[in-house]
Amino acid sequence: MRQLFAPGADAVLRLALLTVSVGAILLLVVVGAVANSDYISGVGIAPRQPVPFSHKHHSGELGIDCRYCHTSVEVAATAGMPPTHTCMTCHSQIWTGAPMLAPVRDSLANDDPLHWTRVNHIPSYVYFNHSVHVTKGIGCSSCHGAMDHMQMTLRVQSFHMEFCLQCHRHPEEHVRTPDQVWNMDWGAPPDQAVRGPALVAKYHIRNAAQLTDCSICHR
Ligand code: HEC
Ligand code: HEC
Ligand code: HEC
Ligand code: HEC
Ligand code: HEC
Repeated sequence: MRQLFAPGADAVLRLALLTVSVGAILLLVVVGAVANSDYISGVGIAPRQPVPFSHKHHSGELGIDCRYCHTSVEVAATAGMPPTHTCMTCHSQIWTGAPMLAPVRDSLANDDPLHWTRVNHIPSYVYFNHSVHVTKGIGCSSCHGAMDHMQMTLRVQSFHMEFCLQCHRHPEEHVRTPDQVWNMDWGAPPDQAVRGPALVAKYHIRNAAQLTDCSICHR
């Protein structure tokens, strides 16, 4: 009887199958990498804003406190965004005719709030609360970077689950004294190994098992 397949066909078939499966794996790797990449998550990219507001100028150089504009950051889940009249306390006197500030003046005149493009966001199935972090010695820069050096605001963290968990497992490595929460250049001091655990005790921060419990963030 004639052979159904020529000798060697088996090897060809194996090679073909191998190529297909390796190709499929490579495709998954590439798709995964793109989905997690900084490009897709928006890290390092400053979105266009209605007004080129600069934290570097207002916070870094003029020294305006974060809480002047983000008034609820110590007391509520959300930090809050400044209403137009907060800008106008100064800009009704400084740079009053600047074309760059026209959208701010229009906003006030038309009673239509400025529509800032959101930079940071987490999915709605994740619970987050600013006040809990800020009042327990976690500084803005741990999550937002050195805001007072930014000309235009960009995202420095993609807020993947692992980012939250690495601190919830070891808050003692990140916790600061209350005054340092506002220091955008904070780095752990050389004696953090001693200070950290003492601050964790002082703030009554829960242990790692409690802080990594799924129901803390997924309620
Ligand atoms: C004079 C008002 C003002 C002050 C002071 C100020 N901000 Fe802002 N902040 C804004 C405005 C307006 C925006 C929206 C435009 C933008 O994203 O840059 C913003 C946006 C942000 C965002 C991004 C919000 C988002 O869309 O996710 C963060 C984070 C932030 N500010 C942190 C800070 C920190 C930290 C400080 C103190 C160092 C501070 N801000 C001081 C006005 C202010
Ligand atoms: C406490 C006073 C104060 C507040 C509040 C304030 N600004 Fe300013 N802003 C200034 C000063 C001072 C300048 C710089 C003028 C100069 O360069 O001579 C400035 C400059 C600017 C400029 C020009 C670009 C730059 O950064 O140099 C923009 C745009 C601007 N502000 C937008 C805003 C917006 C939007 C708000 C509200 C979210 C705001 N400012 C709130 C004081 C303030
Ligand atoms: C533990 C991480 C963390 C810390 C610390 C933190 N933030 Fe945020 N911030 C976030 C996350 C996450 C979001 C996005 C929240 C969302 O999508 O609901 C956010 C959003 C914001 C926004 C946009 C408005 C809002 O409330 O959603 C502002 C403004 C802001 N943060 C300012 C600050 C300031 C000022 C500080 C320090 C006093 C600070 N943040 C500390 C994680 C943090
Ligand atoms: C740099 C450290 C740090 C990072 C990053 C961090 N956390 Fe926390 N988180 C803490 C500390 C400290 C507490 C306070 C724990 C306590 O009071 O026992 C806390 C508490 C919480 C709580 C408890 C709130 C409550 O009402 O009990 C939630 C929810 C939470 N974090 C969510 C998040 C999410 C979501 C992220 C990531 C977007 C995040 N955290 C990132 C340090 C951090
Ligand atoms: C400290 C906060 C925090 C805790 C604790 C936490 N998660 Fe998450 N989780 C997040 C955040 C933030 C995201 C959103 C990730 C993103 O958008 O990339 C997330 C996303 C997820 C997702 C969606 C898929 C993914 O990985 O992005 C699943 C599933 C999930 N979490 C399961 C769990 C389980 C199970 C636990 C307990 C073992 C847990 N989480 C504990 C913060 C937390």
